[in-house]
Amino acid sequence: MKITHAMNPLKGEIKVPGDKSISHRSIMFGAIAEGDTVVRGFLKSADCISTINCFRKMGVEIEEGHDAAGDYILVHGKGLHGLKKPESELDCGNSGTTTRLIAGILAGQDFETRLTGDSSLSKRPMKRVIEPLSSLGASIRSENNNDRLPLIISRGELKGGEIRTSVASAQVKSAILLSGLYADAETRVIEPVLSRNHTELMLSAFGADIVSGTVDKPVSLIRPSERLTGLSVTVPGDISSAAYFMGAALIVPGSEILLKNVDINPTRDGILRVFRDMGGNITIENERYETGEKCADILVKYTPGLKGTGISGDIIPALIDEIPLIAVVAAAAEGDTVIKDAAELKVKESDRISLTVDNLNAMGADAEAKEDGMVIHGGKNLHHAVIDTAKDHRIAMSFSIAALISRSVQPVEIKDSACVGISYPEFYKDLDSLMR
Ligand code: S3P
Repeated sequence: MKITHAMNPLKGEIKVPGDKSISHRSIMFGAIAEGDTVVRGFLKSADCISTINCFRKMGVEIEEGHDAAGDYILVHGKGLHGLKKPESELDCGNSGTTTRLIAGILAGQDFETRLTGDSSLSKRPMKRVIEPLSSLGASIRSENNNDRLPLIISRGELKGGEIRTSVASAQVKSAILLSGLYADAETRVIEPVLSRNHTELMLSAFGADIVSGTVDKPVSLIRPSERLTGLSVTVPGDISSAAYFMGAALIVPGSEILLKNVDINPTRDGILRVFRDMGGNITIENERYETGEKCADILVKYTPGLKGTGISGDIIPALIDEIPLIAVVAAAAEGDTVIKDAAELKVKESDRISLTVDNLNAMGADAEAKEDGMVIHGGKNLHHAVIDTAKDHRIAMSFSIAALISRSVQPVEIKDSACVGISYPEFYKDLDSLMR
């Protein structure tokens, strides 16, 4: 994909696609519930389709439909103990969420499963689920003893207990809580900082006996369940996808974009807090709740004179996926932006610290990589470059936004831009619609 600087302001309204985290969970929980689950607003992206395929392979019937209210996914739940042994391995594609959450469910099944993934996923750390699930009694191991995929998982004697995690990871927390559905006693997860709590909110709506941790007390707990019951889920828009247009509106002169129906769960809203702290003109309108999730419309206007900021500590899990984009906006701001406590970026779909910094510098910015984050010295003019995305969707979308403020006549080239399909297949179409 080749992108030149924006000739005109970005204007208009976007209904960003459904939240990726919530879409995954709606399929998984629907599959192990009794009765039907209807999911509206489901994100039909490569990652969420990986989740659908895994559950279809375990005998769950999942249909796509359309009615007067729009598209929906219908999951015919099999109950907690109704999944079937898949005939071959479960391929999780590029999706860490699929892998780690499914691991928690498989830890409660009476059959052995092998989990695999693509080359990026096969490099990502799995010890973080192997260790806690094993200590709770599950049978889970890395086939090559290297704490990476493939994983071999089957039921052990899940006895419940307390796990203190060293990283704030919703994927790890969710794996532990899901295994707790099948345990003999209560399972608790104590996090260093509260990570996104969609699992707690949605499992509770499906009828599980579960309590979400809070910002002040990040301890989530679940008691064994007899059954979950299917329900209607409406997936709100993904703030991680909305973020690209927020960033674009802030930095492209004259822009004004209204983002409709975005999930602003306080465990996900770090981007709003940071952009406002940088001076961004952002208004939250029409706040409401959808299946326990706080949602709103977000109006973002071009803001000249954005200021650099410091980002560290408790806010990091609430914006972890948005850091490459924040770095792009920081490059357009005045002064320094210092990002710390974000070493997790190195084990996402790519090493997002080095890729973000290298690509920013290739465009003429002044950025430094640190062990647990980065420093961006803002205010430099950006120019064209060839962007190495390592097929990481968030790098591709972040640098597509950076391209809009490149000063060169020559376009910025985003390599392997089709990877946006992991989380946002219509990204370029939506971006284009704002430029007309
Ligand atoms: C996710 C949790 C986050 C996030 C990922 C989705 C989830 O990962 O980066 O894109 O749906 O639970 P960690 O919580 O492992 O950091």
